[in-house]
Amino acid sequence: MIHENKNTLILGLGYVGLTLGTVMSENGHNIFGIDVNKYIVEHVKKGKSHFFEKGINKKISSSINKTLFVSESIDDFVHINFSSIIITVGTPLLNNHEPNYKFLIDAIETIKKVYNGSQLIILRSTVSVGTTRNIVIPILSKHLNINDNEVLISFCPERTVEGKALEELKELPQLFQVIIKTLLINQENYLVISTKILLKHNLWSQQR
Ligand SMILES: NC(=O)c1ccc[n+]([C@@H]2O[C@H](COP(=O)([O-])OP(=O)(O)OC[C@H]3O[C@@H](n4cnc5c(N)ncnc54)[C@H](O)[C@@H]3O)[C@@H](O)[C@H]2O)c1
Repeated sequence: MIHENKNTLILGLGYVGLTLGTVMSENGHNIFGIDVNKYIVEHVKKGKSHFFEKGINKKISSSINKTLFVSESIDDFVHINFSSIIITVGTPLLNNHEPNYKFLIDAIETIKKVYNGSQLIILRSTVSVGTTRNIVIPILSKHLNINDNEVLISFCPERTVEGKALEELKELPQLFQVIIKTLLINQENYLVISTKILLKHNLWSQQR
């Protein structure tokens, strides 16, 4: 099934979210990026990245407000019909070495305004074992009043080397882990940035 709708929401425009959004925005997707950090959003609006990555400013400049739109608030994008939602916020460790889930939970609360249950949620963040199952899915299923196993979710970790992200995002195979096997074909169509064959595994095999 080929999806005509290529509107993708990205939560978090840090290194992972902005490199991914930049490459996707020049490869047939309409990217709508949100970051709570005003400095980052203002930079991107001016065609600039807040970190160094070879060639990224040129790409952002040519995509911004054409296929790449950014904001601090989901309210600017509530009218958009999204086909996929990618979460890239971090879960840094607290002093007690436990992950801080605040950013992740806030991001999920944010997407409730546009989430209708038919979009794919793609976790790109590095998360500890059980995070998808115990935190992400329960919040979304409760929001929609559906069963946990009806949430269309996948885990697709970031794998690029800093300095080479823009090339590697197109060259490295993307690893998707999903719960529902039939989602795999959709995933390939959504994140079409790599021509390489995707590796496919069961999400639960990695205990995410
Ligand atoms: N940077 C890397 O090379 C790399 C590699 C592999 C995995 N990762 C993982 O990917 C994730 C992201 O990494 P990063 O380097 O981009 O982190 P980052 O901290 O630079 O970026 C995360 C961004 O999310 C934003 N954010 C926080 N809460 C938000 C919310 N509720 N809504 C919208 N935006 C929000 C922050 O302002 C920040 O700009 C982490 O889990 C990291 O461990 C990073």
